[in-house]
Amino acid sequence: MGSYWSFRLMVMVALLTVSITFKSANSDPQITLLNEGCNTKYRADNITNFGINFNKSLADLRNQISGGNTHFATAQEVWTSDPVFVLFQCRDYLSIADCVSCFDTASSQIQECYPHNGARFLYDGCYLRQEASFFFDQATNSGNGQICGNQTASQPTDFQTQAEALLQDLKLATPQMEGFFAASKRQLGNGSDAVYAVAQCTETVSKSGCEFCLKQVYDYIDVCLPNTDGRGFDAGCFMRYSATPFFADNQTTNIIPYLRAKGGNSNKRKTIILGAVVGVGLLLVILAFLLWHQLYRKTKKIEKSNIFGTTEIRGPVTYNYKVLKSATRNFSEENKLGEGGFSEVYKATMRNGKVVAVKKLNINFGKAKADFGSEVRLISNVHHRNLVRLLGYANKGAELLLVYEYMANGSLDRFLYGEKRGHLDWKKRFDIIFGIAKGLAYLHEQFHVCIIHRDIKSSNILLDDDFQPKIADFGLAKLLPEDRTHLSTGFAGTLYVY
Ligand SMILES: *[C@@H]1O[C@H](CO)[C@@H](O)[C@H](O)[C@H]1NC(C)=O
Ligand SMILES: *[C@@H]1O[C@H](CO)[C@@H](O)[C@H](O)[C@H]1NC(C)=O
Ligand SMILES: *[C@@H]1O[C@H](CO)[C@@H](O)[C@H](O)[C@H]1NC(C)=O
Ligand SMILES: *[C@@H]1O[C@H](CO)[C@@H](O)[C@H](O)[C@H]1NC(C)=O
Ligand SMILES: *[C@@H]1O[C@H](CO)[C@@H](O)[C@H](O)[C@H]1NC(C)=O
Repeated sequence: MGSYWSFRLMVMVALLTVSITFKSANSDPQITLLNEGCNTKYRADNITNFGINFNKSLADLRNQISGGNTHFATAQEVWTSDPVFVLFQCRDYLSIADCVSCFDTASSQIQECYPHNGARFLYDGCYLRQEASFFFDQATNSGNGQICGNQTASQPTDFQTQAEALLQDLKLATPQMEGFFAASKRQLGNGSDAVYAVAQCTETVSKSGCEFCLKQVYDYIDVCLPNTDGRGFDAGCFMRYSATPFFADNQTTNIIPYLRAKGGNSNKRKTIILGAVVGVGLLLVILAFLLWHQLYRKTKKIEKSNIFGTTEIRGPVTYNYKVLKSATRNFSEENKLGEGGFSEVYKATMRNGKVVAVKKLNINFGKAKADFGSEVRLISNVHHRNLVRLLGYANKGAELLLVYEYMANGSLDRFLYGEKRGHLDWKKRFDIIFGIAKGLAYLHEQFHVCIIHRDIKSSNILLDDDFQPKIADFGLAKLLPEDRTHLSTGFAGTLYVY
């Protein structure tokens, strides 16, 4: 579910080599675009009202930023048919003038998404997001990941060690700090070189939300090391490191007190605090449990109807191999959902609770590896309610992992011949057939590249929790070794006709 967006991949390769120097001090709004997304499946109902609300809320944001000497603002216009919620954030090291100038870039580029109600634009210097419903407290959401530079540091081991230590410190200190922002640097071994890094949460997430988000984003950005540059992002937070300074020296924050806060107190004080915390905590747990018990059903419903209110940034997302490995419990047997000639599929529970399916490809890639990136990009741009959505990928050496949305009801063959036989009435069967046809029509005629599946069978049709059919395994043929494409036991063959 929730796979209704259509996205263009927009990775700014150029930025990877861009070095932002601070020599001539200041006046750099850092408007390198890192990622953007429009919620293209959710169009405003009344375009006039939406346009008015949209512009009003943007104007409100700009006033707050330029007038209030602040780096963060939210605004909302909700009184007519198409409510608009917006959030804007600058890195705190920017001057207000640079912050406003980053805002102007973002608010002009976000017009691209009009009249789609939902958008995210992420730059080095700032972040602008718009939705049709309240999202200001959201810490994590799909559309997260990292953008890595392509140059290895000159002293990779030392650089990696120091950068990881610095990012770990920022991860711990930032949620403790007023304003959820920290910038810091750390010297490398021989003293003259350093690594620079920042961490920031949106000010409207909770402290625990900030902690949680940075924990995830640390894992994303860590993949970039030992390259000289990296950025990690999620809905509610951002991290960046570089071997080149990207903020002025006097913008560095002292994070040390926030790291000590955890360990250094006297024992007496600790005991008192601990006692109080345990007492109050116990009470809260009981209260929370009672509340949860009553609200559980309601909450679930709200989440479902809200699903249109969140945008995802354009994919595909690169996942951390280690994170996927642990989410599938080391690719354990009990997490295995199925296997084919060249792949195994595992159920993976991510740390934010989201369940996904991870396909592990067992192919000795030669030329295929080179095609991998472009294939994944193509497939991840296929968005249709009757096609299984590719969320992202990860690779480590020769191993390639593809991450798909998880389908609760498994494949159609279980309902036709397997353990669930007899569960489908005629209405459901008709809807499934009709859905498959719509998915195929999309692949053949509506997507900008014609994709021919060549291996439609009931085990390749997955069912979501509403028994909507979704076609799986399209678009992987180019990754198969030439001589094995004829084997029908493998995953589906696919042919492109440009
Ligand atoms: C790094 O990225 C730049 C900019 O796109 C590109 O010109 C260069 O070839 C890349 N270097 C490597 C080693 O891939
Ligand atoms: C949009 O809403 C306005 C005021 O609420 C109304 O006058 C107008 O007719 C609506 N337009 C459309 C196309 O529904
Ligand atoms: C909103 O602002 C944009 C850019 O300034 C402008 O092109 C557009 O006409 C405005 N829309 C409305 C409804 O005022
Ligand atoms: C730090 O040490 C490395 C390896 O010895 C050397 O290549 C590099 O130039 C040194 N950095 C500076 C700026 O002295
Ligand atoms: C930081 O240094 C810059 C010059 O590099 C100066 O213009 C600016 O006023 C300084 N800011 C603060 C807060 O001291």
